[in-house]
Amino acid sequence: MSAVLKDPPQLALMLDEDLAQVLAIENAIYTHPWTHGNFIDSLRAGYDCRTWRQDGELVGYFILMLAAGEAHLLNLSIAARHQRSGQGRALLREAADLARRRGARSVFLEVRPSNLAAQALYTRFGFRRIAVRRGYYPAHSGREDALVFTLALQ
Ligand SMILES: CC(C)(COP(=O)(O)OP(=O)(O)OC[C@H]1O[C@@H](n2cnc3c(N)ncnc32)[C@H](O)[C@@H]1OP(=O)(O)O)[C@@H](O)C(=O)NCCC(=O)NCCS
Repeated sequence: MSAVLKDPPQLALMLDEDLAQVLAIENAIYTHPWTHGNFIDSLRAGYDCRTWRQDGELVGYFILMLAAGEAHLLNLSIAARHQRSGQGRALLREAADLARRRGARSVFLEVRPSNLAAQALYTRFGFRRIAVRRGYYPAHSGREDALVFTLALQ
């Protein structure tokens, strides 16, 4: 029996037509997911919104906002069934490369203190934790802080 060889995932512009699949992943993996309106706002604002598809299947996506030489990674997500197989690291590499090509000197992001998987990904990638934003996120009871991580792109 021969192994099934899959093509590597491809980055593409996120389109309105992708949003049903994007939201299915978003709703499955976050306690406080982005809404349809949040994605539409990002698309309309001209942020760098990308999908990551393998053989047509949506594996993940990211939203990157550029301003004043800094890139802000607003969302980076991998579908549950594709997690822990290197896809998050590969997609983060794509986001950082895009930010660099856009002229950003650094990229920063916020992450929940409870999200140890994401923190491990960012730390292993070379991000440094630089600040805490108090009460940044909604949480089940009240609010949760955000940890701010940054990566120099030179
Ligand atoms: C965080 C997320 C993007 C990681 O994607 P992934 O494809 O599972 O990550 P990878 O397989 O590329 O792992 C890269 C590294 O991240 C770390 N990591 C990823 N998942 C982890 C977990 N569950 N526990 C501990 N470390 C983890 C590891 O250091 C891993 O390297 P290793 O496999 O060599 O040990 C993914 O879990 C996800 O989409 N989570 C839900 C959405 C989310 O939290 N997004 C980030 C918001 S700030």
